[in-house]
Amino acid sequence: MKLVTCGLPYANGKLHVGHLRTYVPADVYVRYLRLMGEKVVFICGSDCHGTPIVVNAEKEGLKPQELVDKYHEHFKRVFKALNVEFDFFGKTTESYHHERTREFVKKLAENGYIYKKEIELAYCENCNMFLPDRYVEGICPYCKTPARGDECDQGCGRHLEPGEILEPKCKICGNKAVFRKQMHYFFKLTAFQDFLEEYLSNLSGTENALNYARQWIGNLKDWCITRNLDWGVRFPLDESLVLYVWVDAPIGYISFTEKATDDWRKIWLEGKAEIIHFIGLDIAYHHCIFWPAMLKGANYALPSAVIASGMVKIEGKNLSKSRGYVVWVEDEYLKAGFNPDYLRYYLVNYTSHDKDLNFSWDVFREKVNNEIIATFGNFLFRILSFVWKNFGVVSMEVDREILSKIEETKNKIVNAIKKWEFKSASDAVMELASFGNVYFQNSKPWELLKSDKAKTMKVVANCLQIVKALLILSYPIMPKSMEKVAGTIGINLGNCSIDDVLKVDEKIEVKKPDLPFKKIENEEIEPLKKAIQEKFCEKNESEVSIEEFRKMDFRVGKIVSAQKIEGSKKLMKLVVDIGSEKRQIVAGIAESYSPEELIGKLVVVLANLKPAKLMGVESRSMILAVDVEGKPILLTPEREVKPGEKVK
Ligand code: 2FM
Ligand code: ZN
Repeated sequence: MKLVTCGLPYANGKLHVGHLRTYVPADVYVRYLRLMGEKVVFICGSDCHGTPIVVNAEKEGLKPQELVDKYHEHFKRVFKALNVEFDFFGKTTESYHHERTREFVKKLAENGYIYKKEIELAYCENCNMFLPDRYVEGICPYCKTPARGDECDQGCGRHLEPGEILEPKCKICGNKAVFRKQMHYFFKLTAFQDFLEEYLSNLSGTENALNYARQWIGNLKDWCITRNLDWGVRFPLDESLVLYVWVDAPIGYISFTEKATDDWRKIWLEGKAEIIHFIGLDIAYHHCIFWPAMLKGANYALPSAVIASGMVKIEGKNLSKSRGYVVWVEDEYLKAGFNPDYLRYYLVNYTSHDKDLNFSWDVFREKVNNEIIATFGNFLFRILSFVWKNFGVVSMEVDREILSKIEETKNKIVNAIKKWEFKSASDAVMELASFGNVYFQNSKPWELLKSDKAKTMKVVANCLQIVKALLILSYPIMPKSMEKVAGTIGINLGNCSIDDVLKVDEKIEVKKPDLPFKKIENEEIEPLKKAIQEKFCEKNESEVSIEEFRKMDFRVGKIVSAQKIEGSKKLMKLVVDIGSEKRQIVAGIAESYSPEELIGKLVVVLANLKPAKLMGVESRSMILAVDVEGKPILLTPEREVKPGEKVK
């Protein structure tokens, strides 16, 4: 028996192509295992806790529960549309999950792996709160890159403990945070050093994950597992705290298995199944180090493999939501009406699972049109239409060479799947389709038919056996399309085993085939290519980081003198007291204000604007105004304040 899991997506945003790079190959893997006769349980669910949820809920103006409910439904919809079929897709807010998590943590405590310690935590004196995880931003103490509170997400990738981050700033108000003492609870990860060394030397999976994990092994630190938040699983030893999201999230693998199958004890307590985790490389540390130590510490069974997908690029650039390099699965891909199988094929066939994958709309169109349609679909359709037109029913007599080619393909696929080489498996399918095309072309059955119908039937039977094999062998990759075609020759793919590719039926009846795939035209992808450019421009032109904003020195100023500039209808020369000095500023306000009414007015000044000359007069700042149909209306503080006060 095998349990296959996928990393739980945070229920705080929509799914993009980068997410699917883990879920689609995992689904393909599970479907192949089942085809090979294995009993498999396949689970995943929404990761609903932690600051990723709370921070985004605030941004969207929703309660955390509303936010996770919304995205949980979105995940279910998208997975269904993509035919990613989990046996159970859970939610970490559910009570069964909280119970399992609390019991797990109590066991860790009972076994002596939890201790408490007073630590210094980032605290915002402006917002009056401790700043857990994503509420704080600063500098990674190891690689000096800007980082989040619990993770150096843009630099070295290290997990950061509370209190470790340098130059902490409050994510809410941007103020410098201070450190304050508080009692928290720790998981004794360091007690697992020897165990982990041994465990990692036996763990299987993709090299990227294993190498990544092995490099941290000499550097273990105990993990603070409690947080000051209202949202999360209550810590059983102190109900005023919640558990760090990385404690409860992986326990979801257990609680969801409990919901998915009666076999959960065999899997998680008795070690009678292989546990295989599919994840993104960015969470390899959590899955190869932290999680096995937790499992060991609480007497649960251990995972046997960790399969990490490589990075995803969009049009050649690193996927980045904030920079606009992203393709949304529902709003862009599915809405454009593309066959979900095209994306499934792309994601497994573009490159090896652990290498970087580039998603580009042009490459997508080429792969679909040249490989899925011109090679694979073309073969299926040519054979099926030829048989339907000329025979209807075919007595199946299949040559040995054809069967051995099919067997060779089957073996290649089985071996590839065992090593998580989905590209090789899908290449083998395409190669068999090419072989079929060449065989059909060389045998010229359309000519043979004129002279020898019996001989033609033999050629056609060979081709039909290849069609049947192709349907069965590519079903895990393109389930929806293959089911459609399978109806034409009366097979039920859901009941097939991989050995059926070599079974020769007595007869096959072919019904009128439909074109299995639709070509992608350039016009269909043009708007999607443009959308990426637009998102990129939008994000990069309209968004200002808090750092950029803070560079601007806005201050209150008091106008001390004003005079019209000769020769200009609009410009006025002002002298403004900005506290530290009096500044000469040229402003285009002469059509809205007379010099007299300006004297003594309080205004907002951008004090560090580069000096410039307007109509030959030097201006060393700018004053802020609202533009009402071309006429400026000055911004002024709502109460009397001293010149020089900072505006923020
Ligand atoms: O990094 C993430 O997106 C996390 N939500 C993954 C959690 S995987 C697991 F351990 F639950
Ligand atoms: Zn703050």
